[in-house]
Amino acid sequence: MSEARAAAWRNLGLHNDPTLIELFRRDPRRVEKYSARLELGEEGQGAILFDWSKTHLDDDLLTDFEALTEAAGFSEARRKLFAGEVVNPTESRAAEHTALRGVGNEASVEEAAALRERMRLLVEAIHEGALGEVKHLIHIGIGGSALGPALAVDALGRDLSRVDVHVVSNVDGTALEAAFAACDPATTLVAVASKTFTTIETMTNAGSALKWLGDNGVADPHGRVIALTAQPEKAVEWGVDETRILPFAESVGGRYSLWSSIGFPVALAIGWEDFESMLAGAAAMDAHFRDTDGRANLPLRAAFADLLYARIKGAQTRAVFAYDERLRLLPSYLQQLEMESNGKRVTADGKPVDGPTAPITWGGVGTDGQHAVFQLLHQGMHLVPVDFIASIAPGDALDPAHHRILLMNCFAQGAALMAGKPSDDPARAYPGDRPSATILVDDLDAATLGALIAFHEHRTFANAVLMGINPFDQFGVELGKEIAKKIDAGGESFDASTEGLLKAAGLD
Ligand code: F6P
Repeated sequence: MSEARAAAWRNLGLHNDPTLIELFRRDPRRVEKYSARLELGEEGQGAILFDWSKTHLDDDLLTDFEALTEAAGFSEARRKLFAGEVVNPTESRAAEHTALRGVGNEASVEEAAALRERMRLLVEAIHEGALGEVKHLIHIGIGGSALGPALAVDALGRDLSRVDVHVVSNVDGTALEAAFAACDPATTLVAVASKTFTTIETMTNAGSALKWLGDNGVADPHGRVIALTAQPEKAVEWGVDETRILPFAESVGGRYSLWSSIGFPVALAIGWEDFESMLAGAAAMDAHFRDTDGRANLPLRAAFADLLYARIKGAQTRAVFAYDERLRLLPSYLQQLEMESNGKRVTADGKPVDGPTAPITWGGVGTDGQHAVFQLLHQGMHLVPVDFIASIAPGDALDPAHHRILLMNCFAQGAALMAGKPSDDPARAYPGDRPSATILVDDLDAATLGALIAFHEHRTFANAVLMGINPFDQFGVELGKEIAKKIDAGGESFDASTEGLLKAAGLD
């Protein structure tokens, strides 16, 4: 398999490099061929338009990427993913996030549905006042236990938020203090979100949140805690009553866990029906990804573009600019998803990888980025493929001029990056031929957000399979944790620089 994959990669490197303008000139049907609209359901659950025509993908490249897909055993890897078989060989685990949306092996789908029902009952009981008046939720978690909830609450909970949610991840007490300042302890619940229920940042913040409740007149602080975890017995040990523990399966990875009980703050903020819509939107993307082959498979096609730039054209980064304030947290969500999954240096069978892996994902919101970092995109020396993401329907009720200006700017940036502009004055010349893709949703609602996130999950998986790496482990995060523990335990010495810093901060 790896020989066939290596040969397919070599073949991909042999292509000529027509410019984007040249590609459009050669193929009058380019827009039609390189964009696709995916309907999320028959009952008007929205649609998403993907436009890759301003990337350098062409028919020959697509054909060769399809050959790579076959050589890399993509169909079998995808079958294993959806069947709940081991796709994370270093930890001998399945990765069953799709089962949480009802797409996967029957037993896992059933188990997930039962756990979801338990969560629904608790969410609805809280909405109905079973835990007294609840105005605020402090959601404590980090990494995958925070980034998804923060994104979804921020994107969807703006107008209809029933509960004011504060996601706190940083162990820097300043973050928790800011949440305390915004909440009334008498009407606040605390969600402790941790797959392992051992993460030091989360457990430290959770302890301080309990203390804050107790210090501020709450008689039974533990009674205000909801635990979201794959280790329910650890939550019981920590003092949470079983009725307020919402478990999820060990086979769900942290950065893929938004759909599990880790999504509790989302359901509390936007209501159960919309939470289910988010899962349904993701399920529509799952079905598309599972059932579509070759270039018509949208997450796979996105991976073709990613790999073209990261592996063949040497791009070290990729940028994501959301022309939608509600998606301002999407780039940081994608950073964990893509870099923790695919920032690897060995293949799934432990051999050195044969090329660069995940590019550095970065980005922000348009139009702000235009007035800050876009200079480099247009005239800098780095090749940066950009994804623009926008919604046709506005998220605001102000003068339509706002949304018109927003969208015009979004489309203008893609056009400018591609076309460039000559000038006699070198400082004023734009080289052009800079690639971008545009993802345009009809309306950013729960279903389209779910589909958008699932699209990126599958895109990340497809990238990994084509590179031959395991996207579901993350051993790279362990060494720093180990050293922090050693520092805490004392009695060990470190390099001279670290010793100096410990001394300067009084931690020696
Ligand atoms: O350290 C990385 C990591 O394990 C992430 O993969 C994970 O999302 C995060 O820490 C939080 O882990 P937990 O949910 O177990 O607290």
